[in-house]
Amino acid sequence: MERYNPTSLEGLHGAALELKERVERKEAVIAVVGLGYVGMPIALEFAKKGFKSIGIDVVARKVDMINQGENFIEDLNDEDVKAMVSAGRLSASTSFEQVAKADVIFIAVPTPFSSQKDPDLSFIVSAGAAISEYLQPGALVILKSTTFPGTTEDYLKPQLEKGGLKAGKDFFLAFSPERVDPGNKVFTTANTPIVTGGIDPVSTIIASMVNNQIIEDIYMVSDPKVAEMEKLLENIFRSVNIALVNELALLCERMGGINVWEVVDAAGTKPFGYLKFTPGPGVGGHCIPIDPYYLSWLAREYDFETRFITLAANVNEGMPYHVVHLVLRELARQPIALADAKVLILGASFKKNVKDLRHSPTEGIIHRLIEEGITDIDISDPWAPMYETAGRTFYHVDLTEETLSSYNIVILVTDHDAFEMDFVVKHAKHIIDTRNMAKDVKEGREKITLLGASNPRKKLVFEH
Ligand SMILES: NC(=O)c1ccc[n+]([C@@H]2O[C@H](COP(=O)([O-])OP(=O)(O)OC[C@H]3O[C@@H](n4cnc5c(N)ncnc54)[C@H](O)[C@@H]3O)[C@@H](O)[C@H]2O)c1
Repeated sequence: MERYNPTSLEGLHGAALELKERVERKEAVIAVVGLGYVGMPIALEFAKKGFKSIGIDVVARKVDMINQGENFIEDLNDEDVKAMVSAGRLSASTSFEQVAKADVIFIAVPTPFSSQKDPDLSFIVSAGAAISEYLQPGALVILKSTTFPGTTEDYLKPQLEKGGLKAGKDFFLAFSPERVDPGNKVFTTANTPIVTGGIDPVSTIIASMVNNQIIEDIYMVSDPKVAEMEKLLENIFRSVNIALVNELALLCERMGGINVWEVVDAAGTKPFGYLKFTPGPGVGGHCIPIDPYYLSWLAREYDFETRFITLAANVNEGMPYHVVHLVLRELARQPIALADAKVLILGASFKKNVKDLRHSPTEGIIHRLIEEGITDIDISDPWAPMYETAGRTFYHVDLTEETLSSYNIVILVTDHDAFEMDFVVKHAKHIIDTRNMAKDVKEGREKITLLGASNPRKKLVFEH
């Protein structure tokens, strides 16, 4: 691995030198395929740096919004989008014909999994095939979507070559995983280092040079597979560590008398050799619940079982079930029949202060509640006016004294800053706090069930 710096460009010649010069003169046209959380910031950043940036997406509504100067990604500045569209530097299209004008094509399409949790590369494959029809000699293609090692060379490259051009000879190809953290105000596209690995040294250098137009630090690796694997390591690292504290939370609850949140805060005071992760109602988003499975699927082709990864996923996927267990226990205590119980969930998005609803723990909790016969469920989430799951549409409920007091249980799933826990605890009958959000609430603590904490219990002694 090596940190990119402009001296890496010395000795470039032919098409690589031409592309470098077009980039330096800001004449290079940038196409971004897939205008989501990853693609849109890239398209906008290049436009802001003076490039002509063209977004391509299969969803006409997104394309129309951009062309009207309207932003739909919360981390991006509305005015920036408007200004770049007005200046003619940012536009969008549903047609891959735009690729014919592009010097650089980023691919940022989804990489979901099937119902059996096998990788679904169909979006990458179809985007690659569509690009190949218009790909020009001398162009550079950079795949951004998170995926398993080998995707760039074994799945994308053959699609791109369908038009007759050869990767490494007629066009450049690299993998450069995305690290954007929606909602993060400190680390943005520009100041988050990224890794880039091309199918050959020239592809690596030229892709790093292009990335460096909008990102300060680029680390070059020897192969796309290294970049593909390191991205999975990042996300699996999170999954495993979250699972570890979730397991500890379950143990603390079982033992009683130890509050897991105090434990993780205390461990977090160690300035080296420890990274703080917190328990919760389960993992969500497009990355942590999915990406580990990309690697475990691939590993099986090599007769290798990724035990850590599977175990971590197991623990994390069990958390929504555990939250529902806490709900059932509290309803039995009140007591109230399940069919009569009213439940309010605070938070539909998968993490605080964002509107991304994908694979949110709320989804699992709602499904399980309905399975248990609890159907009178509402959601309050100022970030999500509407949420569809389990064949139902939930509309945001305002938190008032009347609404809060009308539910048997309020489950705090997402720790949005907007939730005023003093108010919630004051007016709710009972709260299941899965994020320790009510930690500073003084009055009414007896109404709170905190995930990862309970009253001291007796040891289980096996007598025979
Ligand atoms: N969201 C994140 O925070 C994040 C972070 C790092 C990596 N990633 C990875 O980046 C990739 C994209 O994620 P995202 O969150 O931006 O997804 P997204 O769903 O927000 O955006 C993907 C976009 O691609 C479009 N699309 C689908 N198929 C297409 C096709 N054939 N041609 C053109 N457009 C197409 C969709 O309409 C959508 O607008 C995924 O692999 C994801 O794992 C996401």
